Amino acid sequence: MKLPLIDLHCHLEGAASPTLIRALAARNGVQLPADLFNADGSYLWKDFSHFLESYDAACQAIRKPEDFFDLAYTHFSDAARLGMIYGEVFISADHAAASGIAYPEMLTALEGGFSKARAQTGVEGRFVLTAIRHYGVEKAEQTAALAHEFPHPLVTGFGIAGDEAFGQPADFARAFDVARNAGLGITVHAGEVCGPQSIAAALDALKPARIGHGVAAIGDASLVARLADEGVVLEICPGSNIAVGVYGAYGQSPFLRLRDAGVKVSLGADDPPYFHTDIANEYAQVQQAFDLSAPDMLAISKTAIEAAFCDDATKAKLLEKL
Ligand code: ADE
Ligand code: ZN
Repeated sequence: MKLPLIDLHCHLEGAASPTLIRALAARNGVQLPADLFNADGSYLWKDFSHFLESYDAACQAIRKPEDFFDLAYTHFSDAARLGMIYGEVFISADHAAASGIAYPEMLTALEGGFSKARAQTGVEGRFVLTAIRHYGVEKAEQTAALAHEFPHPLVTGFGIAGDEAFGQPADFARAFDVARNAGLGITVHAGEVCGPQSIAAALDALKPARIGHGVAAIGDASLVARLADEGVVLEICPGSNIAVGVYGAYGQSPFLRLRDAGVKVSLGADDPPYFHTDIANEYAQVQQAFDLSAPDMLAISKTAIEAAFCDDATKAKLLEKL
């Protein structure tokens, strides 16, 4: 049997292939910047901050609610074909609003696309409403207010992505309080391109159940012990880290050292076409780089299911599939 894959860290807009983005741009009459793509058609970006710029540029192709239907349908059906049985997807109400799409309309379209993929493949999933750190505190608070005002059964988490060097986690505490009070699971991108202190500050101020990336923790033994003690789950995306230049190869990721120190670790594809990966490749590369057994890999999926932002009945069904 193929190993059931769980992806707790994937961005909806970042999962859109260059082909899909070009098709949406053509359908919507949007002229994308010529320097968004390499000659071979892949996304062009040079470093982490340029990646964030290219990401925003590609999002300009997304103009209509039905585009979100296509993004959700394509992501979930493609990932299901790779063996994913459950995926959580970060969604950006800010990028939708920039195209004049209101959050409730975005949600209806996402539900439609996801439901079609689920009906066809059996894939399960949820959405994580995600603020963008470098868009500022006020926007993050507006995003959290949307979660409160428009609750949706498929939106079960709240997170923050974007430029980790912008501001301090404590600046965003009010936004996270609103999201937590709306019943959402909390995850924070930290320790991706900044150091251990960035993770500690996120833990102190925002009390997340999960950290997006978190790999920089390996530089601080007391932080590693704290993550293990507190049972905080890391959504590790080694292919993404390699693409942005944090590590040279899968074997250099601290994935195994963190796991062996007792930290709960899961895997994510992050922004698959930008980083030339997908969730099946992440599992396969990690297994190969660290010579892990099938039970080791199954344990990664089990940890991810236990950490998923979904109800217990859904978790029980997913655990049965393992
Ligand atoms: N937004 C999309 N992908 C991201 C990443 N890897 N880090 C921070 N923000 C992001
Ligand atoms: Zn991410």
